[in-house]
Amino acid sequence: MNSIAARFRIDGKVAIVTGASKGIGASIAHGFAEHGAKVVICSRKQAAVDELATQFTAKGYEAIGVQCNVGNEADRKNLVDTCIEKYGRIDILVNNAGTNPYFGPIQNLPEAAYQKTMEVNLNAAMHLSNLCYEELKKSGKASIIHISSVEGIHASPGFIAYNLSKAGILMLGKSQATEWGKDNIRVNVICPGLVKTKLSQALWQNEGLMEKMEKKIPLQRMAEPDEMAGLALMLASDAGSYCTGAVFANDGGLLNASLF
Ligand SMILES: NC(=O)c1ccc[n+]([C@@H]2O[C@H](COP(=O)([O-])OP(=O)(O)OC[C@H]3O[C@@H](n4cnc5c(N)ncnc54)[C@H](OP(=O)(O)O)[C@@H]3O)[C@@H](O)[C@H]2O)c1
Repeated sequence: MNSIAARFRIDGKVAIVTGASKGIGASIAHGFAEHGAKVVICSRKQAAVDELATQFTAKGYEAIGVQCNVGNEADRKNLVDTCIEKYGRIDILVNNAGTNPYFGPIQNLPEAAYQKTMEVNLNAAMHLSNLCYEELKKSGKASIIHISSVEGIHASPGFIAYNLSKAGILMLGKSQATEWGKDNIRVNVICPGLVKTKLSQALWQNEGLMEKMEKKIPLQRMAEPDEMAGLALMLASDAGSYCTGAVFANDGGLLNASLF
C-alpha cells in the first residue's frame, strides 16, 4: 500500500500566498512551509512579511517576504518576478488577500469602495493567476486555491460589494478549472465561515452580536485561522490530486444551519 501521509508533503514546491502576513494567509503559509514548500509571503507591508519569513526560516523552513498590494499591477508583476528569481518556479498560488471597506445598504455603496473591493478580492486573483499561468503549467502538478467566503454563497444585508466579489471568485475558480485541467493545474475554492482575524474583528468584538451568531453556527463557535490551513494543504498537495473546480465550505456548518 502506498503512503497516504506522504501525499500531504509538498517538499520542494514553491507556493505564493497573498495576504499572508497574518490571519488565514499566515496559517496557510505556515502549514505549507511545515510540509516542505518554499513559501513566498506577500502583503502590503514589507516589514510585516519579513517578520513572518524570519520566524519561518528560524524554524528551518524556506520563505521570503515580498511587499505586494495585489490591487497594483506593478506589485503583482514584481511578486511573480521575485518568486522566479529566487526559487525558479511556481507550483502553488493561494489568492487569499481580501478587504471589506464598506458595510451598509446597497443603494449607498460608494463607487470607490466598490472598485477597491472588486479589484483586491476578485480582479487581482484573476490577473495574478494569469501572470503565474505559464509557470504553473511548467510545474506539471500545480494548484490554485482561491479564498472566497460563505458570503460568496449566501447573501447577508450590508455586505454587497464583498459578497459580489466573493461570488465572482467562485466562478473564476470553476472557469479556470475547466480551461486549465488539461495543463494539470487544479483550481479550487475555499469558503471560510467566521474566523477570528483582524478582518472580522468588528463582528467578534461585538459581544451581543457574537453570541447571536455563534448560536446559529452548528459548531457553536467561530474558527481560529489555523483551522483553515489543513484544507488548503490538502488541496495544494497530492492528497487532493483529483480535486478541481470544487467549492469547499470550512464554516462550522454555517451554510447548513437550520432555522430550528
Ligand atoms: N476572517 C473571516 O471571518 C473570513 C471569513 C471568510 C473569508 N475570509 C477571507 O479570508 C481572507 C483572509 O482574511 P483574514 O480574515 O485572514 O484577514 P486579516 O487577518 O485581516 O489578514 C489580511 C491579510 O491580507 C493582507 N492584505 C490586505 N489587503 C491587501 C492587499 N491589497 N494586497 C496584499 N495583501 C493585503 C494583510 O496584510 P497588510 O495589511 O500588511 O497588507 C493581511 O496579511 C480574505 O480574503 C477574507 O475575505 C475571512
